[in-house]
Amino acid sequence: MRKKIAAANWKMNCTYQQGEQLLQDILGANIALQDHQQAIFAVPFPYLIMAGAKVEGKKGYSISAQNVYNKKSGAYTGEVSAEMLKSIDIKYCLVGHSERREYFQESNQALAEKLDLLLANGITPIFCCGEPLEIREAGTQNSYVAKQLEESLFHLSAEVISTIVIAYEPIWAIGTGKTATAAQAQEIHAYLRSVLAGKYGAAVADAIPVLYGGSVKGNNAAELFACPDVDGGLVGGASLNAEEFATIIRSLP
Ligand code: G3H
Repeated sequence: MRKKIAAANWKMNCTYQQGEQLLQDILGANIALQDHQQAIFAVPFPYLIMAGAKVEGKKGYSISAQNVYNKKSGAYTGEVSAEMLKSIDIKYCLVGHSERREYFQESNQALAEKLDLLLANGITPIFCCGEPLEIREAGTQNSYVAKQLEESLFHLSAEVISTIVIAYEPIWAIGTGKTATAAQAQEIHAYLRSVLAGKYGAAVADAIPVLYGGSVKGNNAAELFACPDVDGGLVGGASLNAEEFATIIRSLP
């Protein structure tokens, strides 16, 4: 069975103390995860070690970075390398979130480099893709996201790509309260899987978890996660509320 994942993306929110409390409250709910289920917290860089200590020994709970630099090491003031993340035992890292693509001009090529560095350091990338509103309105979302996959992922071998996680996040649904309907999510997730199958074969495509992101809340998670090609969610706003995120974790099939 494919992994089912509830991933929290705190973005640039919470002080250290608030973050610590939030994690404590969610972990305090003592939600037992089955072997195929994962709860992941993508926290700001300064909180990674604290968060790692909090989830240590808790089955199915892991910490993710929100970003990594696309160079190995060197004179890049202010940046964080994959090797640094590995050295503090970080297991996951978001790559190519739409906010990074938009505000920091991250190209598909630069994202491919980030993926390679993470994978070389044993860190699982959560690769984000998704279209802006004008593309959805023009009805060209499928080719738009397929290009994102092709340009950033398709240099990977079948063996390696089977180990990553993909998050589909329509930009028009991020932080807007406008969730894609379960039917819209299922349709494009199935399409993404068909693109992966076209390149790597059905077995590889079937192994890759594809998360949905964009206004996932406690009250819509179960319906979205019940779709056969939706393997959980990448959650922004609702992950900042312990009760709500606990509900989302409990909605994992
Ligand atoms: O990474 C998370 C996504 O950007 C979704 O954010 O749940 O606030 O819409 P949101």
